[in-house]
Amino acid sequence: MPELLPVLSKNDIDSMVTQIAHRISTDYRNHDLILIGVLKGVFVFLSDLVRCLDIPVQIDFIRVFSYGSDVASSGEIHLTKDIEVDIKDKDVLIVEDIVDTGLTLKYLIDYLRTYHPKTIKVCVFIDKHERREADIAIDYSCHDVAKGFLVGYGLDYNEDYRYLSGIYHLKL
Ligand code: IMP
Ligand code: MG
Repeated sequence: MPELLPVLSKNDIDSMVTQIAHRISTDYRNHDLILIGVLKGVFVFLSDLVRCLDIPVQIDFIRVFSYGSDVASSGEIHLTKDIEVDIKDKDVLIVEDIVDTGLTLKYLIDYLRTYHPKTIKVCVFIDKHERREADIAIDYSCHDVAKGFLVGYGLDYNEDYRYLSGIYHLKL
């Protein structure tokens, strides 16, 4: 049986999300901010985040598929759902559950730039360092980890564990 070791409780997460939302609200006050969530893992974080912001935002989603094993992406990335709002001349914040190699975010930043937004920044719930390959700036992150495979709070392993309200380290 896989083992789940607690990493962040619902209380830990609530205070992290409140803090990051405060920074984002301050930085983007009086801007036309569009949040672009990366499906599917981000659905829980994004829904908490928007309800902690005190500025108006628009929300859209994008989805990519990356070939690879259950726990590691290969870097071969395909767009499976595009954005639907117009981001030209707007401030865009890509919101992602976790950054690992960084290849997905690198692909998304390069792709979204083709729509000519005014700015693009990145917000992740978890910044995982060990396997970073792409040199990308993470503008906002709630929590840093060195390594390990994490589940819960939207993050899955083969579509399981997304529903858990905390973050756990999955030991296979
Ligand atoms: P990257 O392209 O290697 O940065 O990986 C990005 C994607 O891989 C994330 O959006 C997740 O979907 C998935 N991923 C990477 N690490 C984990 C993890 O620890 N748990 C769950 N999903 C992960
Ligand atoms: Mg993801």
